[in-house]
Formats: sequence, structure tokens, C-alpha cells
Amino acid sequence: MFAYKTRLFACASRCSQHHKACRAVVWPYLAARRVHAAAAAPTWRPSSALDEWVQREARPISLRRLTFFGRSLTESRLLDSANYCRLELPTRIAHRLRDIQTLPYVVVANPHLAHVYELYLRAFERFRRVREIHSLEDNDRYCKVLEETLHEHATVIPRLAIGVLEVQRLMKPEETDKFMNTMLRSRISRRVIAEQHLALTETFNSPWHFPNAQPVHDPHAEAVGEIFLRCNAREIIERCGNTTKDIIKRAYGSHIAIPEIHINGHLDATFPYILSHLEYIIGELLRNSIQAVIEQRQSKDARPPPIEVLICETSQHVIIRISDQGGGIPTEILPHLWSFSKGPRREKRLQNLARVPKLVGTMQELKVPDDHQDLKSQLDNGTKSKYSDSSQHHGSLSSLTGRPPDLRLGIGLPMSRVYSEYWAGSLEIHSLEGFGVDAFLQISKLGNKNERLTTRATMDA
Ligand code: COI
Repeated sequence: MFAYKTRLFACASRCSQHHKACRAVVWPYLAARRVHAAAAAPTWRPSSALDEWVQREARPISLRRLTFFGRSLTESRLLDSANYCRLELPTRIAHRLRDIQTLPYVVVANPHLAHVYELYLRAFERFRRVREIHSLEDNDRYCKVLEETLHEHATVIPRLAIGVLEVQRLMKPEETDKFMNTMLRSRISRRVIAEQHLALTETFNSPWHFPNAQPVHDPHAEAVGEIFLRCNAREIIERCGNTTKDIIKRAYGSHIAIPEIHINGHLDATFPYILSHLEYIIGELLRNSIQAVIEQRQSKDARPPPIEVLICETSQHVIIRISDQGGGIPTEILPHLWSFSKGPRREKRLQNLARVPKLVGTMQELKVPDDHQDLKSQLDNGTKSKYSDSSQHHGSLSSLTGRPPDLRLGIGLPMSRVYSEYWAGSLEIHSLEGFGVDAFLQISKLGNKNERLTTRATMDA
């Protein structure tokens, strides 16, 4: 038996496949013996409830379906929405818990990944116990649980990002990126579902809503919950452009010449979308472009060349092309453009990620092992950061968008692509060496496509 366990132990610490024997024998064995590969290892518990929930399939949503729940909001539709969340969230979390369990043990023993696992396990246990929601009072109680959990999970993204960089040598980059993509898509999906339900509940409870009135379909409504029914590409680009310019001015000084943003094409194109998703992507692309132009021309007096944005509307899509003359992407970065785990400047990225302010607050809960003291001291220094962001809305994402331009985390582009693909769109980057970059963002404009929860099999170089 001992030899068998030893063999399985070795397997558990190496294999990255779904390995039944590892799960059935080694994880409980490790938990029982409290064997920790590193100090902050999670407490693994075999859970038949988890097995049961993993059997369930996620029921995909589309923007159209989400809008349907809220367009003519009645008590019964609100309760339907609550019960959809009630079943969907634990199902989706269960799949991700299982994904983490199938990682090699040395990988999940990483304190950041272990912390994320613990958060998810706690959320799963909490969500799966919620009984069917029959009344508005039940719903209010449920919304409190959702709000608390959204808040608790605010640091998941920087933790995952640090975690995958730290375990870089223990996993193949394509496996790490696939894992990260799946985790992020799933997180976006859960937050969309939870935030949409909270927004609907808020609408229902607002003084302007008359719950007993006949449902009326208002064709001029601007938004249904979190979904903006007529996002105007030009307005969003202008708004993100102004915010980005302000941030860059503050970082580089007001003397710096900032490139203008010219917008052309189908200026009236509109489509339904979740505004914060689009703002994240466009903000990230514009920030990259403006910064590239400024950094390339810092020593020159001439006015910097403008960023040219073209909006193109087709029957199914809106395509936004952002072109800059910032010199193109350095060749050593190009092969790793979409990777969360590979690429140059790993140490710098780790340091910068540790400066993400949201991470700091919860660091105390985490027992930081001695060999992570460097990271801890960076996190402690981060407490004094002037870059804190009070917005809780998108968890740490808002703190990532509100970050100063010198804080390069190395996840902006891959994260933007996860966002764009989530609603059946795409993001491509073409670098013209020595000249500039063209970014193509394609948005599915009808809102009828299901969310994309599966990831590309391998990340392209
Ligand atoms: C997450 O942010 O990772 C969550 O799972 C949030 C939860 C309320 C659905």
C-alpha cells in the first residue's frame, strides 16, 4: 500500500491529466496527513457534492436571453432569474474546482492558486446550500450572499496572474494559458450572471418600478440591468480615449504631447453589450497605442502622429480597428503576446502585479511562507500605493484599468482577448515592425450568440 501511495503521490505532483486515482486516493490522503508541499497548501476535501455538481452542464446565456429576463420585469421573472443564478453559479464553480484539482499538486500548492481554490470551495459550499427562492424576501437574502461573494472574490485575477507566473516552470506554457483562459472566462460568466441578477433586483426595488403594473415593453429603454442595449462605438472610444489621456498625462507630466485620436467610419453603429467589458478592451488598446507613440517619440518635439480608429459595421458585426505609429511590438515580446505565463520581464511583471492594490487588503489572511517574503514585502509596500481604486464593481479589473501606465502587468492584452471572445467576438493584433500596430476588435452585434465558455485548444504564439 505504501508503495502504491508513493507512486500515486509522485503522480499527483506531476500529472496534469484528470487522474481518477490521484483524486480518489492521494488528495484525501494528503489532506488526512496534512502533507503540504508549500506552507499555504489548501486543505483538500473529497466531496461527493462536488462530484454531483460537476455532472451538471452549464446552461449558456446570451445577451438577448439576459435581456429577456429583465425587459418586462415582474416578480415571477425576478424569481426565475434568482433561481437560474442559484443553480448556475455552483455548477460553474464546481467545474473550475475540478479543474484546479486536476493540476499537479506542486502547482496548486502555490499560495495564490491555493487561495483561489479555497475561495471557490467556500463559495461553492455556500451557493449549493441555497434553497429554492420563492419570495422577494428569499431573494433579498440571496442577493446579500451574492454581494458578499463578489466582494470576497475581488482579488482573484491578480492572484491567478501571480500564481501562474510563479509556477511557470512546473507546467507547460500552453497548459497554463489554457487553464488561465478557462478560469477567466468562467469568472466573467459568473460575475455577469450574478451582477445582472443584482442589477435586476435593484431595478425591481427602485421607486420608479411598479411591480404590480402590467409588464410593459419599453422600446426606448437604455439598459436592462448591466446590458446597454445601444452601445455606441464612437462614444465609448471617445470616453475611453479621454480617460486614458488623463491617466497618461498624470503619469508622464502635462508637458507631454499626447497623440490625438481620430475616429472615422460608421460613427452611428450601435449594439447591445456590457459596457464595462467594452471599456476594458478599448481602454487597454488605446492605452497601449498612446503609450507606444509617446515612448517612441519622447525625445522629439514634433507633434506625435494620431491614433486612427476606424469603425466598420456589417450585418452581423461591428469591427473596430485601432492603428498607431508607435513603432510596432518588440520582437522579443511578439511570440508571447497572448500568454499569461510566458514572456520577457517575468520578475518585473510579478513585482507590478504585487502592486495591484486590491491584493493587499486580503494578504493578511494568507499565511505567506518564508520563501515568499519578497512578494510579501512588495505587497506591503503596495499598501502605500497612491493608485488605489475604490470601485468594487468588476473586482480587481477596475483597479487594473485605473492603474498608472508604468504599472505593466503583462495581462492586459490576453485579458482583453478573453473579454472579446466571451461574447463571440475576436481580437487580433498585427504588428508592422518599426512602424506601428493595427488592433482589430470584432464585436458580434446582434447579441444572439451564446457566451463562449470553452477556450481555444492551444494558445497561438
Ligand atoms: C468570482 O468572482 O470569481 C465569483 O465567482 C463571484 C460569484 C459571486 C459568482
